Amino acid sequence: MSASPVTTPLSAVAARWLKWSGALWFLVAAVGQMAFIGFICIYYGSRTLSGDFPAWNDKPLIDGYVEGDPLGNGVFAIHVLLAAVVTLAGLMQLIPSIRRRFPRLHRWTGRLFLALAGLMAVSGIWLTVGRGTFLSEVSAVAILINAALILVFGGLAWRSALARRFEAHRLWAMRTFMVVSGVWFLRVGLMGWVLVNQGPVGMTDEMSGPADIVLTFGSYLIPLLVLEAYLRASRSARGGIKIVVALGLGLVTLFTALGVFGTVVLMWGPYLW
Ligand code: HEM
Repeated sequence: MSASPVTTPLSAVAARWLKWSGALWFLVAAVGQMAFIGFICIYYGSRTLSGDFPAWNDKPLIDGYVEGDPLGNGVFAIHVLLAAVVTLAGLMQLIPSIRRRFPRLHRWTGRLFLALAGLMAVSGIWLTVGRGTFLSEVSAVAILINAALILVFGGLAWRSALARRFEAHRLWAMRTFMVVSGVWFLRVGLMGWVLVNQGPVGMTDEMSGPADIVLTFGSYLIPLLVLEAYLRASRSARGGIKIVVALGLGLVTLFTALGVFGTVVLMWGPYLW
């Protein structure tokens, strides 16, 4: 992500703050997403490769493996294993040095990312609506909107790349990354919230409490808002706006780091070691 040209020394400092705060957030998010990929490969990869499908449910799931449901189990397996690939491809797309030094690789991982994002959304919709896997109506609506945004934003990113409108492509690709990361943001948000409050305040087992509702819709709407604030501040000539957004991103980074810690230590770790 790059900031626009600046004119005064103060706005040059502000632009640097903004750029580095964005880079720091991305670094923390990349560590957290690598942990997500690691968890998927170790937990689901080992159980799937060894054919021990019922062991998917060693950790709490809504459905996961269901006896006598080969179609549902098959879609679940594809969905969950491709989750690792789409997350890795999304991360690779946003690393500037890969974009600059290996443009062919960037184009191919970009196609893979957008195609898999679409497949994840469609398989997720089928699991939610076709298989009926959801905790509450409100959480189902939230994730279905997430799926719709993945399909729309991914389509726009693809179309603008084909039309060689690269600035529009860059914007839609970043928005697609945010909504594809919605399920990861949700886990980070849930754990961050629990750690900040020292308990599941405003949460229920069906994910229908007030905090659950804010977090399920917020898992993609808040990242999209933060991204828009970052992009607008980057384009703005006003140093003050850049500083405010950089400080806000600092807080977001702290919360993200806390949530990543929670997912690794409390959510995934207990099922790995
Ligand atoms: C595109 C990014 C997505 C990723 C990376 C992703 C990742 C995952 C993972 C890792 C699981 C296993 C559950 C766990 O261990 O916590 C899962 C399950 C599931 N996902 Fe997704 N998912 C994505 C998108 C979606 C979408 C858009 C929907 C719905 C429209 C969806 C619906 C589901 C459902 C219903 C399950 C089954 C949960 C269960 O049986 O307990 N996913 N997903």
